[in-house]
Amino acid sequence: MINSTINGKNTSVDVAPDTPVLWALRDTLGLTGTKFGCGAALCGACTVHLNGQAIRSCITPISSVEGQKITTIEAVGQDKVGKAVQAAWIKHDVAQCGYCQSGQIMSATALLKTNKKPSDADIDAAMSGNICRCGTYVRIRAAIHDAASTLA
Ligand code: FES
Ligand code: FES
Repeated sequence: MINSTINGKNTSVDVAPDTPVLWALRDTLGLTGTKFGCGAALCGACTVHLNGQAIRSCITPISSVEGQKITTIEAVGQDKVGKAVQAAWIKHDVAQCGYCQSGQIMSATALLKTNKKPSDADIDAAMSGNICRCGTYVRIRAAIHDAASTLA
């Protein structure tokens, strides 16, 4: 049994210790907003926050998050930064098919929590692990700048 704080709630998950966090979230806890893309830390679709930092949940064993805080797309809008990012995403109509977007929003929110006014280069560096097959990168960058300006 692994105990963590998931989206602000103390949560016990009864899975094998080497189960990836992604499977525990989706299959055990029903938090299906976090997506499976590559399963190999290459696409970013599975990005969640571990103690506020963006991680790839597909390669993170659940045992490594014992006693720690996980936030997923279902709860990222509960704080001011996540809320601003989600609002900017809607304003800029960022999503196309949408599959990569929960991961994009999690990475963008983690960036703005540590860098309140990121440059284009900062954004490109922070978001480089999040692949979008629909090519929404220009809108993602605009939405991050916009979210930063609303938080200033
Ligand atoms: S599914 Fe985790 S990085 Fe692609
Ligand atoms: S919006 Fe389709 S993969 Fe990113």
